Amino acid sequence: MDAISQLNVLPRILAPWKRYGDKLYNFESGPHTKNFAKAKKSPSWNWCKQVSSKPESDSITRLELAYSVGNTYIAGIDTASNTLEYCILAPVLHPGIVQNAQVELHTIVGPNRFPNFKDKDHLPYVAAFVKEVLRWRPLLLCGMPHATTEEDEYMGYRIPKGAVVMGVSWAVSRDESVFSDPEEFNPDRWIQNVDLPLGIAWGWGRRACPGRYIAYNSLFIIVARILWAFDIKRPCEFVDGKRVEVEIDPLARTEGLSSAPEPFEVVFKARTEMAKEVVRREWNDAERTVDTILERIGNAQVDLKATNDLYVLLVEIEEERDDYNMIRQAEGTYRPCIYSCVSLCWN
Ligand code: HEM
Repeated sequence: MDAISQLNVLPRILAPWKRYGDKLYNFESGPHTKNFAKAKKSPSWNWCKQVSSKPESDSITRLELAYSVGNTYIAGIDTASNTLEYCILAPVLHPGIVQNAQVELHTIVGPNRFPNFKDKDHLPYVAAFVKEVLRWRPLLLCGMPHATTEEDEYMGYRIPKGAVVMGVSWAVSRDESVFSDPEEFNPDRWIQNVDLPLGIAWGWGRRACPGRYIAYNSLFIIVARILWAFDIKRPCEFVDGKRVEVEIDPLARTEGLSSAPEPFEVVFKARTEMAKEVVRREWNDAERTVDTILERIGNAQVDLKATNDLYVLLVEIEEERDDYNMIRQAEGTYRPCIYSCVSLCWN
């Protein structure tokens, strides 16, 4: 209804979308409040307890509090797993594309252990691969609706203050003036030009994804471990007695705000006997009790406050500010594409 907001003055009887809105609200608010209450009673540390303990939480309602944690969960869960599916699809469609990353992993990490975060600065090809996946298949194809804070003009069109604008991530990720041969899946572009903007993946301006650091780091470590341990291949089938690779439509994706590739078949083959052993060992040693994992996260927060790590945090905040500026610049660079989808609504 944002597109023709004048219709919103209609009474409920003539506005079925309002009933649909209520239904969605109840569908969401029920589980959020229930989960929040349950988490507050659970024995271990968790985010619901953490946000409730902050003085700022007194200034908002319980429902708002439940929504802020619940929505962060919703915003983070599909996005990260969908991108991971694209990380698997990319090498299936482009055999050999991860070779540089695998040579790098072998050289830096060696054959006997999983990669870890201490290796991160030494694995530029793995980083480039993750960045290229985020560019190649942006999850929110049309971005999220934003609004102009002041009047602007683009190609002779007046964009009034408050107009809803959408950054069309798909178009931006295919901007030839920034990404040469944009349809080509080419992680090397991020090695050749370290200043390429990644804003496409995370959205723009002040509403850019606040989970982007945790999302990127999670993708990085999972991808590094998968590529270290496995070769990823397209399976074969027999057609008329001949062995052929199974068909995969490279553009087929599920519907939804944040879409994933349509299910596809894939073969994971352990790269060495030692890799098999390390995967089994890591799995056996992994902590599986949720309360214990949460307690560790909670303790890490306390440690962070108490120790020199505070300095690290401050440095990260500084970096974040730089990143924020980069996103603002990207917003400037991509202004034409963003405005290519100006919607016709303002009050
Ligand atoms: C690969 C994973 C992810 C991708 C590609 C992604 C992408 C995005 C995008 C494009 C937006 C819209 C930004 C805009 O309005 O322009 C967004 C918003 C958001 N993301 Fe993410 N995200 C990811 C993971 C996460 C994670 C792990 C979390 C939380 C831990 C998270 C939390 C949020 C929240 C809370 C918003 C709404 C921000 C707001 O409206 O102010 N995201 N994300």
